[in-house]
Amino acid sequence: MITKDTIDDIFSAVRIEEIISEFVSLKKRGVNFVGLCPFHNEKTPSFTVSATKGIYKCFGCGKAGNAVNFLMEHEHFTYPEALRFLAKKYNIEIQEDKSDLAEKSDQNKKEPLFIVSDFAQKYFSDVLFNSEDGKAIGLSYFTERGFGEQTIRKFQLGYCPGKWDSFTLEALDKGYKLEYLKETGLTIEKDGKYFDRFRGRAMFPIHNLSGRVIGFGGRVLGSETQAAKYVNSPESEIYSKSNVLYGMYFARNSIIENKNCYLVEGYTDVISLHQAGIENVVASSGTSLTTEQIRLIHRYANTITILYDGDAAGIKASFRGIDMIFEEGLNVRLVLFPENEDPDSFTKKHRTSEVKKFIDDNVVNFITFKTLVLFEEAKSDPVKRAGFIKEIANTIALIPDGIVRSEYIKECAEKVKISEQILNQEINKIRRKKVFERKTDFPVAEEIEEEKIISERQTDFIENYEESQESNIIRLMLEYGHKELVFREKKEKEIIEHKINVAEYIINELLNDVEFENPLYKRIFEEFSTELKNNKILNQQHFIDHSDKEIKEQSINIILSSEKNRISENWKKHGIVINDEEKDLPRTIIQSIAVLKLKKILKLKEEALNRLKMAVNDEEILFYQNLCKKFDKAKQTIANSKELGRIIIK
Ligand code: CTP
Ligand code: MN
Repeated sequence: MITKDTIDDIFSAVRIEEIISEFVSLKKRGVNFVGLCPFHNEKTPSFTVSATKGIYKCFGCGKAGNAVNFLMEHEHFTYPEALRFLAKKYNIEIQEDKSDLAEKSDQNKKEPLFIVSDFAQKYFSDVLFNSEDGKAIGLSYFTERGFGEQTIRKFQLGYCPGKWDSFTLEALDKGYKLEYLKETGLTIEKDGKYFDRFRGRAMFPIHNLSGRVIGFGGRVLGSETQAAKYVNSPESEIYSKSNVLYGMYFARNSIIENKNCYLVEGYTDVISLHQAGIENVVASSGTSLTTEQIRLIHRYANTITILYDGDAAGIKASFRGIDMIFEEGLNVRLVLFPENEDPDSFTKKHRTSEVKKFIDDNVVNFITFKTLVLFEEAKSDPVKRAGFIKEIANTIALIPDGIVRSEYIKECAEKVKISEQILNQEINKIRRKKVFERKTDFPVAEEIEEEKIISERQTDFIENYEESQESNIIRLMLEYGHKELVFREKKEKEIIEHKINVAEYIINELLNDVEFENPLYKRIFEEFSTELKNNKILNQQHFIDHSDKEIKEQSINIILSSEKNRISENWKKHGIVINDEEKDLPRTIIQSIAVLKLKKILKLKEEALNRLKMAVNDEEILFYQNLCKKFDKAKQTIANSKELGRIIIK
């Protein structure tokens, strides 16, 4: 683990505009920099970088964060990777914390397995290129399949000798421990004897995202019909099948570049397509995709294109698995290969340009495809037809994005000549049921519609009323939380001073009286007050670096908007920097609190008045009358507390 001190050093050295301008061309505008947002398509720059705050925000797509977040988002770095990148750039030596026992022992367990796997890969490659059997059996097999030397070396292919235990003996001789050979599955123990799992097989190493070997697939050679075509490494501390996609290490950059990931079934499909210049391809290794694998792809692209070599019956069987991809919010496209051809065999028979053209010409979006396949079946059968609409609706209902969903509804309705409305109804029914079963929390169409109407009606009210007051308070806490207010109290000719921080003052004033309407403000406020109990006053940086994306973005919004306001104010004053708010901080804060409280009370009173109107018996009438009186009184108290003379700022 990188030490806290190193992280602090990195953060204080980083100039965000330097980092971002390596990837985005920035222009100075006022105190900020602007440029075209690298995270969405735009023609006018709304991507803003504040050098003084060390943060960026796109006012178009909403992406925001600090330099580390930028690298994680843009370069797909992990957190430590981003820190290392920055440390290198600013010549900061990284101190690692070795006291982290959990991580260390975890690493201790894994490291020997990595080392043994690395040795095995090198051994199999060496055998392939340098031994008699390797050349005659292994290398000639790969060559026959059309793999060139460069490809073989890139994918680190190899050959395991056909004798029972050549590899195991060599490994033990070199001092590798039997324990690790067994744990990685390279060596199998049976009746006190040891032999090689992959004996006599062509070897396909499987790599993790940093390119280290974590396991193998071994293909049988010749026509040993008894043996399984492929034997794979068992699960181990370093190899978890459901989390790995074959080829991801080699494909990652190309997937990001193309915003698309081709998905194939086999090792050889990946390798052949690579050799043909299509590098954004990974293999599920013959099994159906797991959620983890889908998410792994989603880190780099929004679209999966399945290159499918099966027949119609096979495809129908895979429909359900593909629904999972939609559920994760990705687009799914499909390319159907000619019968008895997989991407590997097809690539062998055609030139690269033809392969590319075939894929481009034959790609269909999956929902259209599914619609047409099922439609073909249902055409002549009215019973099947009802099921057909349901089936299509089931898939479309999984798509999380409402706009994408309605596009599909339109397209499918058009393709098979069913009413858009019926399809829509069916989908809403399914989504409503799901909400009811709490399988998912996405709102159904009607709810969204309703929400929209209500929110439109309320927009003015909320915006002018509470939202702005609430955000104002949060802004003051973020901006001036640490500033000290000094109360002077006259007590029998003596003047006593009480000191209190702005954040603490605000929290004391609001904690039990006011509930924030806006859930994010509420959480920010709560975090402030929880930390205050530990005598810690949070600062802007804490929220800029916040692990919760929503909180982070909202905080950055507030911080930047205040900066924007101030700049325009300054403009008004012809470049003279005058900041009333900060100069008269006590007044600003007390007034802001008072206004927020007043608004809350007015709202409560209004509600009480409404209830009063609807009250049905004397008891209720009395109750609400009293409540209104109470609110009036509170209003008066707050209004009076605007008296500010006894506070000054230091
Ligand atoms: N597979 C496996 N075990 C098997 C068969 C297949 O693990 N007994 C996995 C392998 O990852 C294989 C993938 O499923 O790459 C696809 O299987 P298949 O299409 O049969 O193999 P190909 O990759 O096409 O291999 P080849 O072209 O050499 O026949
Ligand atoms: Mn094949």
